[in-house]
Amino acid sequence: MSSGLDGVVAAETVMSHVDGQAGRLVLRGLPVELAAESLEFEGALALLWRGFEPLADDAASLRQALGQARARAFALVPKLLPAAAGLPPIEGLRLMLAGLGDGEEGSQPLLAVAAVPVFLAALDRQRRGLAPVAPTPGLGHAADFLAMRAGEVPEPLRAKALDAYLVTVSDHGLNASTFAARVVASTRAGVFSSIVAALCALKGPLHGGAPGPVLDMLDAIGSADRAAAWIDGELAAGRRLMGFGHRIYTVRDPRAEVLKGVVRGLDNGRIRLAEQVEAAALAALARHKPGRKLETNVEFYTALLLDAVGLPRDLFTPVFAVGRVAGWTAHVLEQEATGRLLRPQSRYVGPPVPDAA
Ligand code: ACO
Repeated sequence: MSSGLDGVVAAETVMSHVDGQAGRLVLRGLPVELAAESLEFEGALALLWRGFEPLADDAASLRQALGQARARAFALVPKLLPAAAGLPPIEGLRLMLAGLGDGEEGSQPLLAVAAVPVFLAALDRQRRGLAPVAPTPGLGHAADFLAMRAGEVPEPLRAKALDAYLVTVSDHGLNASTFAARVVASTRAGVFSSIVAALCALKGPLHGGAPGPVLDMLDAIGSADRAAAWIDGELAAGRRLMGFGHRIYTVRDPRAEVLKGVVRGLDNGRIRLAEQVEAAALAALARHKPGRKLETNVEFYTALLLDAVGLPRDLFTPVFAVGRVAGWTAHVLEQEATGRLLRPQSRYVGPPVPDAA
């Protein structure tokens, strides 16, 4: 048995290749650095869906269809939003996505991808006492999310930064949430149920819940001269540093590098402190956990990027879902195409088994 399924291969996929020792991520043949630079979210979606969803054959039509799907999702907001009142955004999103019925017409993967930013923007406005803002046909997916949330078209620089983020996190091998999606998809429970399962897995701090706490950490440290002592205190108390460590990467997470580059192009007062905290954290981790190879992960610079784009920290994890739902749906389609139920075994270690009568 492998604790945490470490090293276990549980699926074959064409979606992404993760090489933990070399620190490489390749999305269907395209290195993540290139994908983040050259693709919009719609392009990443087309790349991942190619061969599984007919809409992906033509990128321009997919962009248009995604815009129409956002309008379809928006039409469901009045029905689904009231029950989510007062919930944290990630929980409200979970509830609203669970409200999507298998009877919905049209492409379910497309509606799932469209619904995440539409529902999230409506949830965020609801808690600010504001009415939902309808999607704008013609805007890209990233820009439209910001527009639906703020009620105005975003600065192109911010929309572009968010787009690069969504592409960067669009898929990542058989991570916990994608695995959850594939398990549910393998039972033929449908796209929406699979996506809800994935979102539930994403929520935890060991997976997608880390970037909010990364900013909390930077706030708690406050200035570079306090970094080493603060970090030593956390590690001595047995707590984990958010934004560091990864099951697969034993060298720096390549997505951290991509996002750091994007953050540098934005106006973020925290970047200098973040770099100093990162250096102090890596030195402390090497001291406290020798031989563990704990490096910076994607969540560290995610926190800075989403903050610079103007998003509040409790939206960081749900915004991760805006990007990762591309990968989830691609894996659901891929799993469904195999037609095989995922059903591993457990090894019984309980009280002795009585002799058979
Ligand atoms: N800070 C301090 N110690 C750490 C950290 C960390 N961030 N990460 C791992 N360790 C330590 C563990 O305490 C353990 O030490 P021990 O053997 O002395 O008990 C050792 O390193 C190995 O840890 P595991 O839990 O076996 O490693 P795993 O592969 O399960 O960890 C994980 C991966 C969950 C991401 C972990 O590094 C972690 O908790 N990081 C902080 C949370 C975080 O940043 N999450 C986002 C991950 S990226 C993503 O999912 C999108």
